[in-house]
Amino acid sequence: MCGIVGYVGHQSALDVVLDGLRRLEYRGYDSAGVAVVTGEDLAVERKAGRLQNLETLLDEVGRDNFAGTVGMGHTRWATHGAPIDRNSHPHRDTTNRVAVVHNGIIENFLALRSELEGLGVEMASDTDTETVAHLVSFAYNEGDTKGDFVASVRKVVNRLEGAFTLVFTNADEPDTVVAARRNSPLVVGVGEDEYFVASDVAAFIAHTKQAVELGQDQMVVLTRSGYQVTDFAGEPAEAKPFTVNWDLSAAEKGGHEYFMLKEIEEQPEALANTLRGHFANGRIVLDEQRLSDQDLRDVDKVFVIACGSAYHSGLVAKYAIEHWTRLPVEVELASEFRYRDPVLDRDTLVVAVSQSGETADTLEAVRHARAQKARVLAVCNTNGAQIPRESDAVLYTHAGPEIGVASTKAFLAQIAANYLVGLALAQARGTKYPDEVAREFHELEAMPEAVQRVLGTIDQVKALGRELADSKAVLFLGRHVGYPVALEGALKLKELAYMHAEGFAAGELKHGPIALIEENLPVVVVMPSPKGRAVLHSKLVSNISEIQARGARTIVIAEEGDETVRPFADHLIEIPAVPTLLQPLISTIPLQVLAAEIATARGYDVDKPRNLAKSVTVE
Ligand code: F6R
Repeated sequence: MCGIVGYVGHQSALDVVLDGLRRLEYRGYDSAGVAVVTGEDLAVERKAGRLQNLETLLDEVGRDNFAGTVGMGHTRWATHGAPIDRNSHPHRDTTNRVAVVHNGIIENFLALRSELEGLGVEMASDTDTETVAHLVSFAYNEGDTKGDFVASVRKVVNRLEGAFTLVFTNADEPDTVVAARRNSPLVVGVGEDEYFVASDVAAFIAHTKQAVELGQDQMVVLTRSGYQVTDFAGEPAEAKPFTVNWDLSAAEKGGHEYFMLKEIEEQPEALANTLRGHFANGRIVLDEQRLSDQDLRDVDKVFVIACGSAYHSGLVAKYAIEHWTRLPVEVELASEFRYRDPVLDRDTLVVAVSQSGETADTLEAVRHARAQKARVLAVCNTNGAQIPRESDAVLYTHAGPEIGVASTKAFLAQIAANYLVGLALAQARGTKYPDEVAREFHELEAMPEAVQRVLGTIDQVKALGRELADSKAVLFLGRHVGYPVALEGALKLKELAYMHAEGFAAGELKHGPIALIEENLPVVVVMPSPKGRAVLHSKLVSNISEIQARGARTIVIAEEGDETVRPFADHLIEIPAVPTLLQPLISTIPLQVLAAEIATARGYDVDKPRNLAKSVTVE
């Protein structure tokens, strides 16, 4: 949610910053802007809409005006103020000497704004961010921090409430970039005589793989000779260095029309990487386990908390974790969790699932759980993000960077990781014998190959997607683990194709939703295996025949060789036979492809659906 990049070095700051913004555009694309220190001045341009609009504007005004090696940029997901030019970042003080870009929400901005208005400042935008530029300017021009840029920033950030990553440039301090963070991400890139700050390493991976993760309430000062990290009191602070373990090609489209398709195709690898190394000496091992086996044995209840697709991964995992551990598992939307006073204590294990590791709803739910003494285990795709940092244990999904806004490979990796958590619990609690744990793990390990086989058949799904592009709505039905898959299929279609889509537990149809069925309405049905879950299978066959009789156009995802379902399927999509609990890892794939293809046929940008952003850092 909002992408930020800052640079101090020897290359053209404009080129470095624009390149970084291109890679961060997945975080928001309501507007974009840049600021470059040009000798004694600050060159700033901002434009509503995609980054391309800013690039066109820069061509018009002349990129020569942006000659300089210190600068910063921003790509926005609007919170305060409509997505129009004047609300775009960077924001400046009235003298146009100090500029700031911001990710997050400053909660006390109304008070700050009226204070500034009392001092005669006329606001040029509707944003919370602009207040910060004026406050830093005041601090720099008068009082005890006069003439000290870093101290001025420190003074101001100490007054801010809420969530913020802020990056500042100052025309009077042409060799310095200052940044601060609270509750929003910021990483430092360490090159040779050049330094970067960004919301995500993707922004500087073309220049360096050496990164430093800034902690909560830390500031960093970049100059060409190095970087210094302090806390908000100005005391030197520890920040954790790390090496990025993927390269530029992972963050590029690699010949695909859009990132989402590339990421769909990367799913076998994402799954294999997520499982790799987690079974050693006959035991499941997690990544950073600050929980003992005794802690796991003491668990008497599991909560999975997450949002969106990550929440659906939790719904899938509930079936497996309960089955393997005999522990009750509740799956809860992170945004609801802390508002209903859930029953938590030190024997509750809360599994917080998040691709980005910075989703505000999930982060706040984690904090609530820890405050109630529950143990928190994070399942996360982003090394060192805030959610894993604040958790008792971490299991990383190694899906690699996910740029398409709609989650695909991360979702599959989340299911696999949640299953590993289930197996780790079963192992610690002895509800599964070691050979049973090993067998489940090896079955999981065989899934990348099954996923690859499904990917080999997606052309048929694409053709179907084009046929369905004009439909008004699509319904999705499933039972057991197929039910969360149906929910995920509907979410994908809503967010990408802006189409009415709903997922139902097939058994619920007769309790109301069947009234929605009308002539030619596409209904996608996720069938369980006729062998693994024969009873469920026959119930679903009855459900399909009921809707077909009422005119629905049935699209059935079923196991290869499932002949009983054939007469009821207007379109049959066959998937390989796999163990029942693992079927979501393959039945999801046609639904991802279907949504992407329908969206493309309708002329929408699959990677950047309207109103959305990849990381939702506001509640
Ligand atoms: C849907 C999607 C979102 C995310 C949700 C949680 O395709 O991507 O629903 O799953 O916003 O995000 P993370 O996993 O980053 O916490």
